[in-house]
Amino acid sequence: MSLPAPCAGTHARAFLLFARSNLRVDFLGFFAAKPSARLAMTKKVIMTELKPARILAIETSCDETACAVLENGRTLLSSVVASQMEIHARYGGVFPEVASRQHVLSIIPVVQQALAQAHLTLNDIDAIAVTQGPGLAGSLVVGMNMAKGIALALGKPLVGVNHLEGHIYSAWLHEAGDVIPPAPQFPLMALLVSGGHTELNLMTDHLTYQRLGATLDDAAGEAFDKVARLLELPYPGGPSIQREAEEGDSARFNFPRAWLDGTWNFSFSGVKTSVLYEVQNLKKRSNGLPVHDLAASFQKAVVDVLFKKTMNAAREFGAKEILVAGGVSANRVLRQAFNNQTEFPVHIPPMSLCTDNAAMIAAAGYFRYALGHESTLEMDAMPNWALS
Ligand code: KG4
Ligand code: ZN
Repeated sequence: MSLPAPCAGTHARAFLLFARSNLRVDFLGFFAAKPSARLAMTKKVIMTELKPARILAIETSCDETACAVLENGRTLLSSVVASQMEIHARYGGVFPEVASRQHVLSIIPVVQQALAQAHLTLNDIDAIAVTQGPGLAGSLVVGMNMAKGIALALGKPLVGVNHLEGHIYSAWLHEAGDVIPPAPQFPLMALLVSGGHTELNLMTDHLTYQRLGATLDDAAGEAFDKVARLLELPYPGGPSIQREAEEGDSARFNFPRAWLDGTWNFSFSGVKTSVLYEVQNLKKRSNGLPVHDLAASFQKAVVDVLFKKTMNAAREFGAKEILVAGGVSANRVLRQAFNNQTEFPVHIPPMSLCTDNAAMIAAAGYFRYALGHESTLEMDAMPNWALS
């Protein structure tokens, strides 16, 4: 297995960019600085200069076959997602073998469509980014082989991207033609809430993560999916619970909140078990379940913990801003909680970019490419690749 590592040309290229942008950095100060400080200064210049590049990205880590084309790190030219949701809904969750086969069937048309929507050909692309992990091994290799094939045929750089880093970088994206929203500013408190992960990361710079805490058991999205199954709601559970909760009373059931004081960790298995016991009791006592109220009360319990712990962590670590990303960041009540507070500017991706897509892989891939992180054709899938 090979981790993407800075290539030999990185520092030379970074230096050239630095040298061209001497309006922003004191040239003499650069040479007076220690080597580590020089690298940091160079990095800052690259990020403010936004080296022009068009990235084609591929994402196949789970059950979405996706391809996107992104310009200069933030401007989305196209994003195509072929969802297998309906197929997996029959099994109540993702069936790995079926997922890989569907990726094989969809990958070529999806890449062709992404290029067509961007009105570009492969020759217009500067680098290829692809999800290298974490995810289902059999699904990851389909996207990676496609990306390697394109990179090899074109002789263009290949960049392996961490899927979780992709979710975080979805907060940098905007559609072509939209007013460009302000980019997130560091230090940044990043809450990552997806189906497989729930973690708090302090970002002091691009591509730099200090993991403060993570879930000790179920991820928030996983808890949504499991509780939905208990309530006999369709997969995926998050949107189903949200829908049912719209008409529910979130104060009817007081489900437990695991604060895990003194740590930045999370735990969602307790609230899930508590819903299970409540459902069993209610079934014994009556015919129907108050699904709306159960869904609303469960959703409130999860959102309370995610919101309050993130706010406390942002205060404690002196973050300037907050970022919320991952599938669960599509949740309306969670978005409202963060958007209604005024203490910190908050970055949450547009709804269409919260769940898995390739635009976010292109965004993370762009920043990696700008810093010279290129991968080799030997890179292997990393199904358990942690962000930090
Ligand atoms: O990020 P994602 O698409 O895939 C992973 O990387 O895991 O996240 C999928 C998760 C699922 O658990 C799904 O139920 C949850 O995100 N989700 C939601 C909502 N939309 C998707 N959870 C709560 N509310 C939503 N609206
Ligand atoms: Zn994801």
